[in-house]
Amino acid sequence: MIKNTYWICPPVDTGDVCPVFSKSVSVDKVVETARLSVSAVGVYEARINGERVGDFILAPGCTSYRTRLQYQTYDVADMLKCENTLEICLGKGWYRGRISASDAEINKTPGAVIAELIISYTDGTKTIVATDDTWTVYTSRILLSDIYDGETYDSTAETRELGRAVINADISKSPLIPQEGEYVTEHERIKPVRMFKTPKGERVIDFGQNTAGYVTLELDAKEGDRIVLSHAEILDGDGNFYNANYRGAKAKLEYICRGGHQTYRPHFTFFGFRYIRLDECPDGVTLDSFTATALYSGMKRTGRITTGNEKVNKLYENTLWSQRGNFIDVPTDCPQRDERMGWLGDAQMFAKTACYNYDVKKFLEKWLGDLRAEQRANGSVPDTVPNFWLIPKSSAAWGDAITVIPWQLYLFYGDKNILKQNFDAMKKWVDYITNDTLEEYLWTSTDDDKKLWGKHYGDWLALDASYGSYIGATDIDLIASAFYAHSTDIVVKAGKTIGEDVAEYERLYDNIVSAFKKKYNKLQTQTECVLALYFGLTDDREETAKQLCDMIEANGNRLMTGFVGTPYLLYALCENGYAKTAYDLLLQEEYPSWLYEVDHGATTIWEHWDGIRDDGTLWSADMNSYNHYAYGSVVDWLYSVAAGIRPAAESAGFKKVVIAPVPDKRLGSMSASLDTVCGTVRSSWRFDGDTVRYEIETPTDATIIIDGKEHFVPKGTYVF
Ligand code: BGC
Repeated sequence: MIKNTYWICPPVDTGDVCPVFSKSVSVDKVVETARLSVSAVGVYEARINGERVGDFILAPGCTSYRTRLQYQTYDVADMLKCENTLEICLGKGWYRGRISASDAEINKTPGAVIAELIISYTDGTKTIVATDDTWTVYTSRILLSDIYDGETYDSTAETRELGRAVINADISKSPLIPQEGEYVTEHERIKPVRMFKTPKGERVIDFGQNTAGYVTLELDAKEGDRIVLSHAEILDGDGNFYNANYRGAKAKLEYICRGGHQTYRPHFTFFGFRYIRLDECPDGVTLDSFTATALYSGMKRTGRITTGNEKVNKLYENTLWSQRGNFIDVPTDCPQRDERMGWLGDAQMFAKTACYNYDVKKFLEKWLGDLRAEQRANGSVPDTVPNFWLIPKSSAAWGDAITVIPWQLYLFYGDKNILKQNFDAMKKWVDYITNDTLEEYLWTSTDDDKKLWGKHYGDWLALDASYGSYIGATDIDLIASAFYAHSTDIVVKAGKTIGEDVAEYERLYDNIVSAFKKKYNKLQTQTECVLALYFGLTDDREETAKQLCDMIEANGNRLMTGFVGTPYLLYALCENGYAKTAYDLLLQEEYPSWLYEVDHGATTIWEHWDGIRDDGTLWSADMNSYNHYAYGSVVDWLYSVAAGIRPAAESAGFKKVVIAPVPDKRLGSMSASLDTVCGTVRSSWRFDGDTVRYEIETPTDATIIIDGKEHFVPKGTYVF
């Protein structure tokens, strides 16, 4: 824990210019250990003798700052000499940038840093260097840096001493916590694939991959040369640079060169982009000068899939890229426009896919800490966490992240502590619904609550929405009641797992199911059927499944579902005898479909099924991201049904595995692997004429289900 309580600020307001706090540190004995702990109201980079401390970009990270502000501790023993300069540069970040502007109490907190360097010597003595009013403050060359707007860096700017730092006693009450999440670090480096002139005559560079991060520059230049870059995810139908969909996010990079060879990367911002436009650039700069660097939380890759269909493989790759780009410390909706928020709905829909692709335990547990911190006294939760926009309400299928994600993490990692830590919050959420509804045992709301930007988002972006509306045709009360059942069911299962008395919630669950079946006995939309089937809310599964299948067929084997129905659509079909229809949808290439996006050049998952239309026109700029992972949730179906790898219901954390592949000749083959806490599971199948050959490897006891036949096997490799 940081013992120091002195938060220090610059002596004068530096406006957009990032200040640097500096302190000289002398070391005159043999160092045994040296640990530097740092946090900031903003984001920081620490340096010792000019060398970067650690590799965390955008430290101290993004949390619910009112109650949780992380600090990081670095081992710096090897960085110390006899005479040292410790510097901490401070940017605005999430805390003080435009992203949190709606929350003045947070956003207007003065920029400040806190640090403590503890040097222990071999002779048993110690030196402690902590932030206080003996530190000196300078201006830096970062003239502006904002998560939405980008960065301006002037390598020719003179840095000025501003005087001694000032202690800010108010910030001392800030709720410091040790680092909980993964560090956000640099990952893939992507070289441009081409530079070209658009029909409008703009010079544009294409990196070939939509990503989140920034462009790194390496070039020879004259002093004063300027490089100004704009970012975009796509080109418009005419092939011109297009970033109107970034809305109010300026997303500009401006770099003023010094003379000679130099490198630069932005310090306190990131962009979502595939293309950059060279708004200004000195002659002689070549493609080699630009590298796109992907930025995301350092999660370990756990899952891999290759199929016999290149387009499905591309869809899978696109989902991985959308996970990377939207797992920058917080699970976000998108990484490019003036949003980049931890939307609960998007996160809960994608959590299962996220768990298959990467080890996201630490990442999501940290975010759940923020979610619990933001839960209101009545049990409701804001629709985004951190709640930078001060959203006062709770939507069905969004708020349910508080039950769905802990349960998902438990199933994958088998750690009961996750349930113990979240159980009260999960119950409170269900209790909130119980108290909020207009009708007992359902979650029904007023008509105002159901309007766009009322309480609920409904089947967000479903195609059965009336033209121009964001809310699909599925009955909002039905969605809310289905998720009420789902969350209550999870509370019951979680409670039983950790030995809690959940009799009251079991009764509640039974009552919700009966009330639902009674009220919603006529299902109208694809999503309504999907929810009734997937959450076990229909007495007539056969009839409901047939209705769903008929609706899909009548729609030309195409889906109509939005954020709420899509994640469970293929499960609802497959679990009820319609595996062929599930594959029809997976392999469909006509609009709307997953592969339609692939055919239209997607390198990440789009927010709208019709982000780019066949005629080249685009969905309106007001809500159109090309890096939105929600529909990428189809990937968990690929792992858990097509390849069939799933944790056994009664033994979480893959202590036992169920492997029940569902092959389809049109996909040709499937090869999936998953590194679990118990070892690596592999499942593959391929068609040999009309015969399917399976190869399955399990690190633990497993139930392998092939053609409906169960095989109980110990660890080993099996061929069928
Ligand atoms: C976001 C979504 C989010 C939604 C709420 C949008 O602005 O981008 O992904 O879930 O609002 O409906």
